[in-house]
Amino acid sequence: MTSPQQIRYDNRVVVVTGAGSGLGKAYALFFAERGAKVVVNDLGGAFNGGGQDGRVADAVVSEIQRAGGTAVASYDSVENGERIIATATQAFGRIDVLINNAGILRDVTLRNMKDEDWDKIIAVHLTGAWKTTRAAWPWFRKQRYGRVVNTSSTSGLYGNFGQGNYAAAKLALVGFTETLAKEGAKYNIRATALAPSSASRLTATVWPPEMMAAMDPAWVVPLVGVLVHESLPAHLSGGIFEAAAGHYDMLRWERSRGALLRPDENLTPDVLLRSWDKVVDFTDAEHPRGVAGAMGLLQRANQLPPNVPGTPIRFDGKVVLV
Ligand code: NAI
Repeated sequence: MTSPQQIRYDNRVVVVTGAGSGLGKAYALFFAERGAKVVVNDLGGAFNGGGQDGRVADAVVSEIQRAGGTAVASYDSVENGERIIATATQAFGRIDVLINNAGILRDVTLRNMKDEDWDKIIAVHLTGAWKTTRAAWPWFRKQRYGRVVNTSSTSGLYGNFGQGNYAAAKLALVGFTETLAKEGAKYNIRATALAPSSASRLTATVWPPEMMAAMDPAWVVPLVGVLVHESLPAHLSGGIFEAAAGHYDMLRWERSRGALLRPDENLTPDVLLRSWDKVVDFTDAEHPRGVAGAMGLLQRANQLPPNVPGTPIRFDGKVVLV
């Protein structure tokens, strides 16, 4: 029975990549239950990217259909993302929501990482999201409506031992998302980046059983439900969100007030070191959403007195300038 409090997605076409298990499966079941037509995409390979099995996507489609929902399967790799979007538009005539979720791991320290470990992770996480988004974009523009969630990771936001390839791909998705938000703004296309934490086959190898039990993918679903809903406010587009075990938050960039020096012939590292405290002081920091006004800064800098040689300077405890 539909509660009047439910937010719904009736007649919205939702594509979820990697929807055969873990988080993607939880999203697909939720959106179908709330009235959306869902494309369940999954290659059905191993957690490190090898192999293929169409039954993985089929099982989720069957589960949705048995519950009275509408779904079709897509077995393509996100590396051929245009085929996934074609499945959506051929079956349902449009696409409203794209959740770039498919993922694999090839964890290895930098010292031992091979080109193929790097390339495969970039191909699935980053290039895969690009391929699906590029194919969906003309539809979003034509409809003047679109919602994209790109799945980042705390490993990308903060770095993580043994995940140089994965971290690089996941943080790249943040910059990609922030650009989608800017380019999509006037077409009512909104994009957000999500760093989830939940039990799945990707985390089963590293988390203890009690942590797995506490981290149900179901606790990430509410945030994704809000991020792709038509009511998402425009100013949240481009935002970075985290979700884990019922905790939800938002991240943003922070810029120190910094040091503004006159760009003249005496502007050397020695002169910069004299103002270093200001460079690294986050008191009264700002939270930028775009590039700084470089021309304005240049004008202000040119009004400052010329830089002059100075007094002894310490950097990291050592005297570096006398
Ligand atoms: P999962 O392994 O349960 O699900 C990933 C799904 O993607 C699998 O069903 C797999 O078959 C599919 N897939 C893999 N490569 C594919 C490709 N080339 N094309 C289409 N489908 C493909 O893993 P989980 O944890 O649900 O991961 C979902 C996303 O969330 C991933 O992007 C992952 O990196 C990200 N993530 C998950 C975290 C967690 O705590 N579970 C933490 C941070 C990020």
